[in-house]
Amino acid sequence: MSTNRFRYNTATTLDGYLADVHNSLDWLFVQTFDEAGPMSMNAFLADIGAIVMGSTTYRWLLEHEISADSPWPYTQPCFVFTHRDLEPVADTVHIVAGTPADLRERIVAAAGDRDIWVVGGGDLAAQFAAADMLDEVTVSIAPVTLGAGAPLFPRPFDLELTEIARNGDFACLRYRVVGPRKPADSAGETA
Ligand SMILES: NC(=O)c1ccc[n+]([C@@H]2O[C@H](COP(=O)([O-])OP(=O)(O)OC[C@H]3O[C@@H](n4cnc5c(N)ncnc54)[C@H](OP(=O)(O)O)[C@@H]3O)[C@@H](O)[C@H]2O)c1
Repeated sequence: MSTNRFRYNTATTLDGYLADVHNSLDWLFVQTFDEAGPMSMNAFLADIGAIVMGSTTYRWLLEHEISADSPWPYTQPCFVFTHRDLEPVADTVHIVAGTPADLRERIVAAAGDRDIWVVGGGDLAAQFAAADMLDEVTVSIAPVTLGAGAPLFPRPFDLELTEIARNGDFACLRYRVVGPRKPADSAGETA
């Protein structure tokens, strides 16, 4: 059996949004974060053998981060989930459709003996969790609320807090995914 871990790692607002209603991250880039500090992305990426993301996130990267001077930033194989006929921007980008379970074997094989970074969005991360393919959630919470936007994790799950750190403006929290949230039993509801 594979020992690869599926790890959702993202920045979020305090009220649980990954981006505003226009898919803007302007609230994120004004915050301070020390890459030499705790729970840095560079340390995380060193353990990552494959990446998965949804099409909005992929298209955001293409629009905002990729240019002639700035190539695709990841060396790991990256699986982009979409129902559209999107163009892969690099040889390492694989445009895929299906459920996480459908793609599991391919993603795990691509990751080798390293972990899988579930970049987001939130519903895709929750689809992985629903398929029992999410081990960890790490959030770097920015001190901002948006009131609306792209949700962090829009399905009911229980998690166990395993690590806390402060890095610059962010509260960084790591959780183990316990499993789908069970409805309260009748005793719990009446207590
Ligand atoms: N704060 C951060 O650090 C952070 C991290 C990640 C993302 N973001 C931002 O947050 C926003 C997330 O956008 P989003 O909520 O729309 O999520 P998303 O996961 O990036 O994109 C959703 C799209 O992914 C595709 N998809 C999802 N599941 C699929 C499946 N099982 N099979 C085929 N296609 C599937 C669908 O695309 P099609 O419509 O093409 O079929 C769906 O519309 C973006 O603006 C992104 O840039 C921020």
